[in-house]
Amino acid sequence: MIGNFVSTLDGIVSFLIPGKEGGGEISGHDEADRFIMGLLRASADAVMVGVGTLHATHPRHLWVASSVYRDAAALYEQFRKEVLAKPEPPFNVIVSGSGRVDLSRRMFQSGDVPVRIVTTSKGADRLRVAGASVLPTTEVLVLNHSDGAITPATMLEALHAQCGVRMLLHEGGPTLYGEFIRAGLVDEMFVTLAPQLAGSSPAMPRPNMVWGTEFIPENAPQLRIVSAKQSADHLYLRYARR
Ligand SMILES: NC(=O)c1ccc[n+]([C@@H]2O[C@H](COP(=O)([O-])OP(=O)(O)OC[C@H]3O[C@@H](n4cnc5c(N)ncnc54)[C@H](OP(=O)(O)O)[C@@H]3O)[C@@H](O)[C@H]2O)c1
Repeated sequence: MIGNFVSTLDGIVSFLIPGKEGGGEISGHDEADRFIMGLLRASADAVMVGVGTLHATHPRHLWVASSVYRDAAALYEQFRKEVLAKPEPPFNVIVSGSGRVDLSRRMFQSGDVPVRIVTTSKGADRLRVAGASVLPTTEVLVLNHSDGAITPATMLEALHAQCGVRMLLHEGGPTLYGEFIRAGLVDEMFVTLAPQLAGSSPAMPRPNMVWGTEFIPENAPQLRIVSAKQSADHLYLRYARR
């Protein structure tokens, strides 16, 4: 599994200001960051986000390459179809235990991308009432029959078994991503380091890349750097698990 994030120099991944929550505000809408994100999406079998990230993103957004960097849409499509032999767009996977998902969004209504909502049986009940069963290309995967958290390993196994997903791209948010990091399931991380400082305050802390999960020095995940690239003041870092 591959993770992709953009972070400020002080490690913040969201300003948490309504309308200015997305990664674009963190990267300064940096072109190279968007190109890399598009290339990762063009390569992936599925792109996963938590429902917190879904709701912080524009309602018309699709988790496909062309949505993040339109200028290279034709190149991405050619690469995906001709080099990787993947004719379909990646599955867009939304994780929500509660099933509180805004189904009016384009990704659910348009039929443009295959969507899987990963949830609990309680969440599935809520989604059924909200009309999920009549959405054109959306299916609900019930992966926990109580209303508790679904383990990352269960998610990966189900996506592999039911959708043939081998390369999963994880785009956050930090709560869901932290669980995958703790489970040791992130093989590679692409991190763009943006040249700005966001700060934070004890009253309303802003999240960093791993949120709600903590380590001690004895079990902190160790990474090795695969590549480091620079464009103007941004750094584009690629790490692999040791
Ligand atoms: N800078 C970046 O690269 C970047 C990337 C992504 C996101 N972000 C930002 O991060 C913020 C959102 O992050 P977030 O941490 O609040 O939200 P998140 O991780 O996207 O979503 C959290 C939600 O996911 C569901 N979830 C998580 N773990 C689960 C599990 N094990 N089983 C079942 N459901 C699970 C829960 O939904 P329910 O409550 O429905 O159960 C939980 O409330 C936004 O501001 C976004 O813009 C930044």
